[in-house]
Amino acid sequence: MQIIERTTGCGKVSSGHLSKEICLAGWVNKRRDHGGLIFIDLRDRSGLMQLVFNPDFEKIAHELAHSLRSEFVIAVCGKVVERDPETVNSDLPTGKYELQVNKLDILNKAKQLPFSLDDADVVDEELRLKYRYLDLRREKMRDRFALRNNVFFAIREFLHNENFFEIETPILTKNTPEGAREFLVPSRVRKGSFYALPQSPQLYKQLLMASGFEKYFQIARCFRDEDLRADRQPEFTQLDIEMSFISEQDVIDLIERMFTVLWKKIFNLELEIPFTHLSYQKAFAEYGSDKPDLRYELKINDCTSLFANTELKFIKSVLTSGGKVGGLHVKDYEFSRSELDGWVPKAQQLGAKGLLWVRFKGGKVDSPVSKFLPDDFFAQAKKIFPDLKETSVLFLMAGKYQPTWTLLGRLRIALAQQLDMIPEDVFKFCWVTDFPLLEYDHEDKRWNSVHHPFTAPQEDWQQKEPADIKARAYDIILNGVELGGGSIRIHEKEMQEKIFELLQLSPKQTREKFGFLLEAQELGFPPHGGIALGLDRLIMLMSKATSIREVIAFPKTARGYDPLMEAPTAVDEIMLKEYGLKLLPKKK
Ligand code: AMO
Repeated sequence: MQIIERTTGCGKVSSGHLSKEICLAGWVNKRRDHGGLIFIDLRDRSGLMQLVFNPDFEKIAHELAHSLRSEFVIAVCGKVVERDPETVNSDLPTGKYELQVNKLDILNKAKQLPFSLDDADVVDEELRLKYRYLDLRREKMRDRFALRNNVFFAIREFLHNENFFEIETPILTKNTPEGAREFLVPSRVRKGSFYALPQSPQLYKQLLMASGFEKYFQIARCFRDEDLRADRQPEFTQLDIEMSFISEQDVIDLIERMFTVLWKKIFNLELEIPFTHLSYQKAFAEYGSDKPDLRYELKINDCTSLFANTELKFIKSVLTSGGKVGGLHVKDYEFSRSELDGWVPKAQQLGAKGLLWVRFKGGKVDSPVSKFLPDDFFAQAKKIFPDLKETSVLFLMAGKYQPTWTLLGRLRIALAQQLDMIPEDVFKFCWVTDFPLLEYDHEDKRWNSVHHPFTAPQEDWQQKEPADIKARAYDIILNGVELGGGSIRIHEKEMQEKIFELLQLSPKQTREKFGFLLEAQELGFPPHGGIALGLDRLIMLMSKATSIREVIAFPKTARGYDPLMEAPTAVDEIMLKEYGLKLLPKKK
């Protein structure tokens, strides 16, 4: 049989091909039978091209074309002609042409697919993932992976030009404490011992600085056995960076330069740099979050002073126990009374005990608690919210600062989403800095690192209480999503040991877990720092996908399952024995 060799891509057919013989290969996207004529939209990675089978061009090919069905893989040859003007499809780059087929090879047939590719957006996600290779045939998915490819290439090019070394680090390793649980891999050779899969290449990249490589990067696979959400997967990809002899500003400048190059290349947009900087304290006070979405205003304000002399019982008791009242001001939205009341259960769903609303119809206070509010409430509130108007609404919550502001932060997002306050096609980056170094775990009654134990504290830390020590750390946020984080690291053994002590690690634990690091810190370790960016999250935001599963070729479901390979699976007794493992009986 003569094999058809393809000469160009379906989406690449252009006026230069007119009247010429070409050969194409791809999938039958759609088939229309118009009596004597059969039309096929042929699809390959480059796009779509219309084929026409006509017994007048070639009888055998036309005969065979009757058997074609969606998703058959075929190769064809024929002459490119212009379509009749009334059949031109201006939505398609190749919409002016069609191929008069004179040769057809069926390379592979396809049964009816488990779901129609046109309906893939609405079918059960598990089914899509079971047949991910079909799902990925869709134009939308192809575009996301084309974007992913272009971004990865541009990152590599940028960092190569900045003189970075790209270096891989081990996947089979020892645990690094970064807050999540680890995946363990049993060793067959060393029975009873386990590798851990890396949560990130953190310690290796620091050791590469001890090696004198100065500028390292890696597009690194990371593994975390944690509860999954729309922006989390058990395995994900980071852009991991580390540099020697640098300050925080050097890392920040590099990342801003990189995003400027990326945005120019991918979107032809000029990003404004420097990005906004917010201290952790300010971010939390104004947005109730350490990852504020700056695409819209709606800041949280401290309204405690408005209730200094209140007779409202629950607020009074909150204030006497040191709590605060926080408020959000919605300016340009006309709520009905039932809409306002509807926000109370919504706030409760977010975790709040309650929510107060106040509006100012004709300058008069209108609220379920109006009779407890002073006559000049509007004037007083205007001191806190200078742009308060008669159409304004205040949403107020009272309670302890930390949990109340967190809830107000969630309410801020819910209001913005529901009231359509979030502009599309806007990218708002910001840096959050001056994080606390440590956070107290009330359950375990101990201090934990907010980032990781290798993060350097800010100067004068030794004079401070653990709660007040600030870290030389920075997070980068895009549109309310934590894209990445990093820090200047500890490079001196003495400081590292003191931090381990604060984390209540015994000298024995320290030696066992981090002996190699402490040793390296005595053998010529340069000052260094770095950052890691979540690349799946970046591509999700750049492609406007709603979950990182949409930009990972073969992701796990939200329950950590791979329906395609059916992983994880049980293993048989013989295999367990080889690894020296025995399973406990399953709990009923
Ligand atoms: P961190 O733990 O903040 O820092 O991770 C950096 C970035 O990686 C992404 N990320 C994830 N993406 C998808 N699924 C997950 N489960 C997941 N977890 C994290 C986020 C996050 O901001 N070693 C440090 C970096 C450093 O200090 O240089 C680290 O890994 O976008």
